[in-house]
Amino acid sequence: MVSGSRQIPAAPGPASSVADAGGAGSAGQSAEGEDRLPATQPFVEIRNLRKSYARGAIPVLKGVGDTMSKTDRLVILGPSGGGKSTLLRCVMGLETIDSGAITLDGRNYIECLSNGRTFVDRTVQRQVGMVFQHYTLFPHLTVLGNLILAPVKRNGEKKGAAIARAEALLSRFGLISKLKSYPSQLSGGQKQRVAIARALMLEPKLMLFDEVTSALDPELIAEVESMISELAEGGMPMMIVTHDMGFAKNIATKVLFCADGVVMESGDPETFFAAPKIKRTRDFLASILRGTKV
Ligand SMILES: Nc1ncnc2c1ncn2[C@@H]1O[C@H](COP(=O)(O)OP(=O)(O)OP(=O)(O)O)[C@@H](O)[C@H]1O
Ligand SMILES: [Mg+2]
Repeated sequence: MVSGSRQIPAAPGPASSVADAGGAGSAGQSAEGEDRLPATQPFVEIRNLRKSYARGAIPVLKGVGDTMSKTDRLVILGPSGGGKSTLLRCVMGLETIDSGAITLDGRNYIECLSNGRTFVDRTVQRQVGMVFQHYTLFPHLTVLGNLILAPVKRNGEKKGAAIARAEALLSRFGLISKLKSYPSQLSGGQKQRVAIARALMLEPKLMLFDEVTSALDPELIAEVESMISELAEGGMPMMIVTHDMGFAKNIATKVLFCADGVVMESGDPETFFAAPKIKRTRDFLASILRGTKV
């Protein structure tokens, strides 16, 4: 449990009102950035997550629970409206929750307190990066400006150091020639890659990708997926929501099938795609193969 002295509960409401933990960790926890867990321990543990968007409304998440290890790439699949984005937004600490808890790398990260309020440890939250379906770059800033904004303004990093890191990242991902470009001068694929690079500037321990290629023209999808694959090969733990089954099969180490606000099935990708256990999963995969919108 989160100790009372560290709880600074916030009123239920939009993400901006979620609690600031003041940077403290649980007793016995090591400093930020250290390796914390034996490989066998879950890196992320989600317990009994319930979430509704309005008081008295039907919950969108109805007791979601699962784990991922530090070496996992967890792919979340499921029909439209099943709660995939909501789940990722909860893991990002952007939503209040009605019950449950999330731990990250052994730390209590998010918890529904006994008074119904949502606790989010902001120190842990800074270790999570998220990229959304629609580009969220600042249009008035260059690529470089987008990348260094949070490290310099929020984290107090020296501008020169942030620029050097940004240049290294952009070189690594083939975007260095776009350093001085504005988002309006980039292709959709380039915008998404810059958005990913911007998230990486904050050196996350966990990356969340919510349908980052679904707004792209088909010829631009591969460049974004290959950037994510490169990150995966480098050992970045990630949760990915995608409707691209080829990409899902390639990148997943674990698949979670989420529908009607619950985890219907989860497991290794080989079993999931070749021999799904439940009819709902089989129907979903069949509808995807037929190209039917679900
Ligand atoms: N901000 C919101 N306010 C109210 N209801 C919401 C909000 N966001 C999502 N919902 C509802 O929550 C349910 C789950 O939505 P969510 O976006 O999590 O689904 P999804 O699985 O990501 O779907 P898709 O595959 O279409 O992206 C839907 O019924 C949706 O209408
Ligand atoms: Mg979604």
